[in-house]
Amino acid sequence: MFETLTALPPDALLKLIGEHRNDTRENKVDLGVGVYRDEFGNTPVLSSVKKAEKHILDHQQTKSYKGSAGDPLFNDAIQRLIFGEESAGDERLITLQTPGGSGSLRVAAGLVLRAKPDVSVWVSDPTWNNHVPLLGGAGMRLESYPYYDADSRSLRIDDLLETLGQIPQGDIVLLHGCCHNPTGMDPTQEQWRQIADIVAERSLVPFIDAAYIGLANGLEADVYPIRLLAERSSEMIVSASCSKNFGLYGDRVGSLTFISPNAATSKIVYSQACQLVRTLYSLPPDHGAVAVQHILQDAELRAEWVEELGTMRLRLKAVRKWLVAALRERAPEHDFSHIENANGMFSYLGISPEKVTRLKTDYGIYMEGMGRINVAGITAENVDYLADSIAAVL
Ligand code: LMR
Repeated sequence: MFETLTALPPDALLKLIGEHRNDTRENKVDLGVGVYRDEFGNTPVLSSVKKAEKHILDHQQTKSYKGSAGDPLFNDAIQRLIFGEESAGDERLITLQTPGGSGSLRVAAGLVLRAKPDVSVWVSDPTWNNHVPLLGGAGMRLESYPYYDADSRSLRIDDLLETLGQIPQGDIVLLHGCCHNPTGMDPTQEQWRQIADIVAERSLVPFIDAAYIGLANGLEADVYPIRLLAERSSEMIVSASCSKNFGLYGDRVGSLTFISPNAATSKIVYSQACQLVRTLYSLPPDHGAVAVQHILQDAELRAEWVEELGTMRLRLKAVRKWLVAALRERAPEHDFSHIENANGMFSYLGISPEKVTRLKTDYGIYMEGMGRINVAGITAENVDYLADSIAAVL
């Protein structure tokens, strides 16, 4: 039977990991897949995570199953982090632990399809390269709303608001909570309020992909749009990831929160979500979630994690400045200032796919095909080489 299948190209982003690994040039630069790197180009385990893992090693009594919703203590802690302490007693919210943010998106898609099979999900243009395959592959109908203007390298806020105003009532709008992937361009708080107004007015269902909480402007600022939309919407979905902000990439830690109009509906949603998870992967991996839960509940470890998160955030801001300054020196006729105005790991460099390919083949500089760079790959050591190379292909 397998001979009926045809080979598919590998995922473009994941393929870059292998290409970069196999490149033997010493000065190669990885600006590809979205993992954080420190000033030495490493993606270390956070010290708070190491300490939590030691605690688990010393104290964990069992690795037995916890159920399809995962660890209730993790769910409680992550819900409080995202929605605030007072959300703990709100029966309209239910949170499940999921295998990373992608697992969360997949369960959300499955649940929405059970509830309303013909609903459309509106995604930003552009969006994360796996949103359409993941949600479309699950069977969701997808539409797109304008988001980024490649010429002015800025948010198309007027077009975005206008399109939101025309989306059929009850449809779902997928919004990036912060650190928009791939552009790094987020709405301001004032613009989020405009978005929330239209979402509420048209009874749209906000579906937030929150993969980078804490990496834009700090924890409180980054959850602002989520809490704002939660206040204004009777139904909402939030897929959050602990891959980047806790550095737990491979451990697959994420969460999925559904907000329903009332407690009774919430219970039904929970039962459906648990049954769906049971049919998909039975239950989520445990280890990373226990570490997160321990960090969030231990005051000292939590403070250490907040500090480590701040260090990552500030480094991402600093390297953006370095690159823009280095490019300004070498190519003053080109404006790269949009890179400084963006949040988190990503920005579009604003160069053609041909130039992206030249940077890879001629200079060993790896980035996503449309010119998305992960600025975390910039170091004091490689920034000059990077800017020289970009200037050379311009
Ligand atoms: C990215 O966009 O590079 C990250 O979200 C990693 C991934 O899974 O694609």
